[in-house]
Amino acid sequence: MSAHAYVSELFSLEGRVAVVTGGSSGIGRAITGALARAGAGVVVVARREAELRATVDELTAEGCRAAWVSADLSTAEGVRAGADGAAQAFGEPDILVNCAGINLRPPMAELGEDVWDTTMAVNLKAPFLLGQRFGPGMAERGYGRIIHVTSQQAHRAFVDSGAYGVSKGGLESLARSQAEAWSPHGVTVNTLVPGFVLTPLNRSLASDPEKVASLAARTMVGRNGLGEDFAGAAVFLAGRSSAYVTGQSVFVDGGFSVH
Ligand SMILES: NC(=O)c1ccc[n+]([C@@H]2O[C@H](COP(=O)([O-])OP(=O)(O)OC[C@H]3O[C@@H](n4cnc5c(N)ncnc54)[C@H](OP(=O)(O)O)[C@@H]3O)[C@@H](O)[C@H]2O)c1
Repeated sequence: MSAHAYVSELFSLEGRVAVVTGGSSGIGRAITGALARAGAGVVVVARREAELRATVDELTAEGCRAAWVSADLSTAEGVRAGADGAAQAFGEPDILVNCAGINLRPPMAELGEDVWDTTMAVNLKAPFLLGQRFGPGMAERGYGRIIHVTSQQAHRAFVDSGAYGVSKGGLESLARSQAEAWSPHGVTVNTLVPGFVLTPLNRSLASDPEKVASLAARTMVGRNGLGEDFAGAAVFLAGRSSAYVTGQSVFVDGGFSVH
């Protein structure tokens, strides 16, 4: 067997269908590209159409299968519409990546119910509802991969974690509950845990060069994260070779969390 055939047998996503929320920007966009280039048909779900179209156009120009659905995941109706639209593109998904997320960062004393509710809706309730929508079908078909993108803030306080850290802590617990329910039926559920990644989410923090440099120094690798750092881990967790990895938090953070 050639090396190419062996690697392909381990990691190819040929014939699989993936849904990636938040797949039009930052980490999600890199994961979308990785899954599509590894052979999956990928449906990207987010709100802004120009970013969605640009993501999908880039991939279809390379010969990948990709489609997009515009939906607001901050409401249950938006989640339902997004899920139904996503399933229409290439059929029911084998892989669900919950990457859409917001981080509003008001100081604790100013954290109101509105920010709390919106944060929980997008970061925690939408992944739960999408799991309820797609998880049972994956279990019935005997193959599924659910990947939640959480945060180091699920594990420690960091720059006004507020509601955000709580939502990500909940998401890690949700992954374990889903893993418990569906792993016996071929559906693994894991989380990818970023450290500090230079994306639009961190625009204001990233505009302070001293802060950026001090965060890079807190890693072991010596730099902050990039979207493409998540490509390999996402393909691994989406594919057949990770069948015995479930309920786990996979830190992709340059060693930030172990310093
Ligand atoms: N960057 C980091 O340092 C870092 C660290 C730890 C964890 N994370 C997590 O990684 C994930 C991706 O973050 P990122 O840094 O790549 O952020 P990003 O570049 O801001 O991307 C966020 C994505 O989520 C989508 N989204 C936001 N609100 C939405 C809503 N209501 N409905 C549908 N889609 C929505 C956005 O699209 P629209 O705005 O068009 O809807 C966009 O595609 C998030 O879950 C974040 O919490 C990031």
